[in-house]
Amino acid sequence: MKKGIQKIETVSILGLGTMGHGIAQVFAAGGYRVRAFDEVPAARESLHARCQENLNTMVTARMLKRSSVATTLSRMEVFDSIEEAVDGSDFVLEVVKEDLAIKKKLFSFLEKCVSPSAILASNTSTFPMTKIAARLAHPQRCVNMHWFNPSHIVPVVEIIPGEKTSPETLATTIDLARRIGKTPVHVQKEVPGFIVNRVQAAMIREVWDLWQRGVASAEDIDLAVSGAMGFRLSAIGPLQVCDFGGLDVWSKLFKELTPRMTSGVRVPSKIQSLVDDGHFGTKTQKGIFDYTQESLEQKRNERDRHFLELAKLKQNSKSPAMGCLV
Ligand SMILES: NC(=O)c1ccc[n+]([C@@H]2O[C@H](COP(=O)([O-])OP(=O)(O)OC[C@H]3O[C@@H](n4cnc5c(N)ncnc54)[C@H](O)[C@@H]3O)[C@@H](O)[C@H]2O)c1
Repeated sequence: MKKGIQKIETVSILGLGTMGHGIAQVFAAGGYRVRAFDEVPAARESLHARCQENLNTMVTARMLKRSSVATTLSRMEVFDSIEEAVDGSDFVLEVVKEDLAIKKKLFSFLEKCVSPSAILASNTSTFPMTKIAARLAHPQRCVNMHWFNPSHIVPVVEIIPGEKTSPETLATTIDLARRIGKTPVHVQKEVPGFIVNRVQAAMIREVWDLWQRGVASAEDIDLAVSGAMGFRLSAIGPLQVCDFGGLDVWSKLFKELTPRMTSGVRVPSKIQSLVDDGHFGTKTQKGIFDYTQESLEQKRNERDRHFLELAKLKQNSKSPAMGCLV
């Protein structure tokens, strides 16, 4: 263990929804004992089944030995209360819903339950740890660790210290991410949305504007962005895309294009009317596209198989940005 890095043996995951179940699985696959909790009984009861499905897909994609499935699942234990789930834990990661008041309340409760050396982390997509930990007695042990969906496949996690996060907490969290096969990115300034969500939101804002204005169909917008921009970005980052394209070209493009792009800060009317009608996307089987239970399962499997193939390719090419699977 390097100086300034704490030894982590047991990890607690609180919140086992879209993100939390896969995160629990990754820690277990990395050899950690995982103690898990969700306030909804069905989420607790289904944890192992959901992870087993993920792991089976990884076995089919030849990214995992079949014999590792049972070992991984056996390292995860589900508890009926937060107190039990964090008992004796070295690293607690909350993955509950995105609500600042809930997260603040949870952190101040956790402070009373965990050992003095335990690290408290949040998977929040937007809230700075400085805000979450504002009233805590020990904010130095708190840090943001931001994963991406599907959490058991996407290699990068962003790690963002708050103003009071200690160098030891930061170094331990970065080290932990590496130990579970993830690629940590240290975000040095605490900006809301960190790196990826800011960039993604800028792109999505433009996409909604193009769709609302009827520039192309939803299918064609997805095809263009995924097949051109997404294709390139799966190999190199956007700043390198600029270098390869030529900064002279990009400087002209900026002058010509940016004044003509949307800079709106209101929720696009199309997204708002879908939300108002209760259409949230795959979780309600209707969003921009329509889904049936069957087509959804098929699409999710296809997506995960595709992501796993990409992860395998990255791993084989030893790309510095990758290396996600344990
Ligand atoms: N969905 C994504 O793509 C994504 C990506 C990165 C980060 N995040 C962040 O991860 C967090 C969770 O998001 P999600 O998409 O998994 O949400 P989700 O709604 O799918 O899951 C949240 C889970 O937390 C449980 N929960 C809520 N309050 C709780 C509490 N007080 N104690 C214990 N369990 C509680 C819920 O029952 C639910 O199962 C949010 O902060 C979100 O912003 C989400």
